[in-house]
Amino acid sequence: MGVTSQRELSVFLTGGTGFVGRHVARRLAERGHQLRALVRNPESADALQELGAELVRGDVTQEAGLGEAMAGCDVVVHLVGIIREKPPAMTFEDIHTRGTLRVVQAAGRSGVAKFVHMSALGASPQGTAYQRTKYEAEELVRRSGLPYVIFRPSIIVGAGGEFVDILLRLLRLLPVTPVIGDGSYRLQPVDAEDVAAAFAQAAERDELTGECFEIGGPHKLTYNRILEIVGEEHGLRRPRIHVPVGLIRPFVDLATNWRLPTPINSEQLSMLLEESIVPGEKNTLREVFGIDPTSFRSVLQRLAGARHKGSE
Ligand SMILES: NC(=O)c1ccc[n+]([C@@H]2O[C@H](COP(=O)([O-])OP(=O)(O)OC[C@H]3O[C@@H](n4cnc5c(N)ncnc54)[C@H](OP(=O)(O)O)[C@@H]3O)[C@@H](O)[C@H]2O)c1
Repeated sequence: MGVTSQRELSVFLTGGTGFVGRHVARRLAERGHQLRALVRNPESADALQELGAELVRGDVTQEAGLGEAMAGCDVVVHLVGIIREKPPAMTFEDIHTRGTLRVVQAAGRSGVAKFVHMSALGASPQGTAYQRTKYEAEELVRRSGLPYVIFRPSIIVGAGGEFVDILLRLLRLLPVTPVIGDGSYRLQPVDAEDVAAAFAQAAERDELTGECFEIGGPHKLTYNRILEIVGEEHGLRRPRIHVPVGLIRPFVDLATNWRLPTPINSEQLSMLLEESIVPGEKNTLREVFGIDPTSFRSVLQRLAGARHKGSE
């Protein structure tokens, strides 16, 4: 942390206003790199401006100006992605597949030296529409002819992230916490700060190229255990009630088909049940990036500490 890179890069960043993007932008700026950020709405990009980023108004669903915007940049860091579709305006194909194609093509035309791309654990041609389009975007990057690094993280946690907030809301609002199925499906929560550090290294280290890294935190935790840890850290120990998947699935599917607002949609339910963990015992963050991955509990303690400081 706080150590500047030996080489100052000019980085074109997409998705810099998002949860992960804010962490990545800060890390890149701390490392002494110049940021040029593609933003849809410059008025809501104060945090990027405070980091000295140059803002370029644009949208990955529009071709216009993307190539010019990247001119002179050394590296593209492409984070834009959505977890829920808002059809017809915003589908996974629009954002992940066609959006990435536009950014990749513009990067090729601009002659950038590296493309660092955000995918997701589970990206696959056979998966849900989210996973399929994440895979298609990866393929576009792999076939671009550009030196690239792709990251596939498990669930990312940290300041500004939704995951912990949703669990906290459940624990606070309900005397008994509902769990879909037996809760034994595992996730490998990874600290947004660690993800950001890995992205910065991918931008800086020339020898990291042509690689797709699956990344996760130090522990593979069942959903039940995650709930327990959040409860322990916040003094909110609650009994759980397990709702059979067969009972909940028809309601979730119906709500998804009717586009009703639900805490979880059909695709998210499938992805949750299929787990989000990196196969094997080795941790890529440690092995490749020399990062000691932060535990989920430590992230929670850091977040609570920051909240406490903020309320003083
Ligand atoms: N969060 C996780 O646990 C997780 C795990 C694995 C992978 N990922 C991947 O990480 C990436 C970032 O996720 P996140 O959690 O940070 O999401 P997020 O908070 O929703 O941020 C998404 C970012 O993409 C931008 N964006 C959306 N549509 C755009 C468009 N049409 N043109 C330009 N920018 C657009 C948003 O800009 P606005 O501010 O204008 O909306 C925002 O900066 C995604 O690719 C996601 O799939 C996330």
